[in-house]
Order: sequence, then C-alpha cells, then structure tokens
Amino acid sequence: MSEHHKPQDVSDDADPVLVQGLVARYGSQTVLDGVDFAAPRGLITVILGGSGCGKSTLLRHALGLMEPEAGTVRLLGCDLFSLNDDELRSVRSRIGVLFQSGALFSSLTVGENVALVIREQSQLPEPVVRQMVRMKLALVGLENAVTKYPEELSGGMRKRAALARAMAMDPEVLMCDEPSAGLDPIVAAGLDELLLDLKAQFGMTIVVVTHELESVRKIADRVVMLEAGRVLASGTIDEVRDSREQVVRDFFSRTPRAAAGRGASLWTASRGGAQ
Ligand SMILES: Nc1ncnc2c1ncn2[C@@H]1O[C@H](COP(=O)(O)OP(=O)(O)O)[C@@H](O)[C@H]1O
Ligand SMILES: [Mg+2]
Repeated sequence: MSEHHKPQDVSDDADPVLVQGLVARYGSQTVLDGVDFAAPRGLITVILGGSGCGKSTLLRHALGLMEPEAGTVRLLGCDLFSLNDDELRSVRSRIGVLFQSGALFSSLTVGENVALVIREQSQLPEPVVRQMVRMKLALVGLENAVTKYPEELSGGMRKRAALARAMAMDPEVLMCDEPSAGLDPIVAAGLDELLLDLKAQFGMTIVVVTHELESVRKIADRVVMLEAGRVLASGTIDEVRDSREQVVRDFFSRTPRAAAGRGASLWTASRGGAQ
C-alpha cells in the first residue's frame, strides 16, 4: 500500500465519528439536508427524532453503508469514501453495530452467533474464540446462555446477545439503533446500565438512537435532535433543554413520572406520530 493511500489516523482528540454537511437522498426524497454530527470519544451521544426523520439513515452513512449526496463522513479519523474496500473493512472492524432489526441467526446458538463474528474478523485459534465468546456473554449477563438458541431467549436477552455480538471484537465505537425498542421499561433500563458500564469500563464511544426520555436522561452525555432533515438542537442535555425550539423544550421539560413507560416516548406523546 502506498503511503498516499494509507488511512490516516488523526490525533487522539479527534471525534471518532464526525459527519459534516451530510445530504442524503432516497431517489428524489431528501432525507438529510446538511446534517452535522459528532460523537466525542468516550462519551454517549444520543440521536433523537421522530419516526422517519432519518436517524437510521444517519447511522448508515456514519458506517459507510451509504454514500452521501454531499458532505463528509469521518470514522476513526478516516474519510470513508476515500478508502478502498480493504481499508473500509479494516475501519469497520473497529466498530460495533447493533442494528434496529438486530436479528441473531436463529439456526445458531447464542455462542455460535458471537463466535461467527470473531472468526470472520480474526484468525484466532478456536480455544481463544471460545474463551472470548464466554467473556462477551458474561459481560452482558448471559454466561449461561452460550448453548441456547435465540428463540429460547426473552426479548431482552436477545438484545443483550446481539450486543455481545456487536462487541465481539472490542470495538472502539459502538452504534445502537433503538436498542430498547420493544422491550419493557425494566429490561430497557438494564440495557442502559450495560451501555453505561461499557463507557465506564472500556471508555467506549457510543452512539444510541432512542425515543425514551428516561433513557436519554440516564445515559446521554450529548444529544442531537433531528427534524425534517436538519439538526434541531445539539449539545449536552442542559444546553439543549434551553433550546429556543419549543418541541425540544417540551420534550425535556416532561417530568420523569409522566414520561415513564413506553407510551410516553418523545414523539408519540408530543406529536401523535406512529412508531
Ligand atoms: N431503503 C430506503 N429506500 C427508500 N426510502 C427509505 C429507505 N430507508 C428509509 N427511507 C425513508 O427515509 C426516511 C428516513 O428513514 P429512516 O432513516 O429509517 O428514519 P428513522 O430511523 O428516523 O425512523 C423515511 O421517510 C423512510 O421512509
Ligand atoms: Mg430507524
């Protein structure tokens, strides 16, 4: 590889995820129209916004799965669209992703699901792979589920197993798209604890899409609110709470009690939008 084509690792203080002026379209529909987004190292950044506003699309661009119409995407210091396939794969191997549809392979046990990722991305000997699988599952409290099939697990356990899989290769950045969707509030709270643990123990940089006010209050170091293809507000919760946008203030001024439970999530409550 020539020096010229080496992915550049920038200085330590650069944001691991940095999106600038992102324009995204599906056909003639412009979904994101000049979005700036940064996920600072070692912090949890939460993306908020109504259903269909482009949150998943933003993540897909941040991962290099979609090419921007305009704007730049830097992941771990690399401009994703100047990389060749090998370089892109190498950057992606340092990222863990929990997709919205985060399905495990149903024909494989939980342990095999996690092992698959490790075997794909490394040449580690089998005993080491098995040891890593046990470690990752222990981290999410599923040490006893190694030989279970996904259908034998509850929804919350399946989410945790998918999280273990996303973390199989010790990613520097973890991106989770609505990790607690479909989970009851107690299980969802457990997932929040897990994300906080990952941040505290490994200094992981985490990006989470969520609708839940309780969750946002608990885990978010920074929030970015999207609406109509643009960033409505961004900053710490305290900064965003004082936004001049009424919809932003409304969201953060709701009391914890009123916001408890899934029925009161952000946009369902304030806008009547469907999920
Ligand atoms: N693969 C696709 N093809 C065409 N339109 C899409 C596709 N994925 C999403 N969209 C549209 O783009 C908009 C944003 O979608 P998405 O990023 O999934 O929103 P969110 O994750 O915030 O709910 C929606 O209007 C959706 O219908
Ligand atoms: Mg989505």
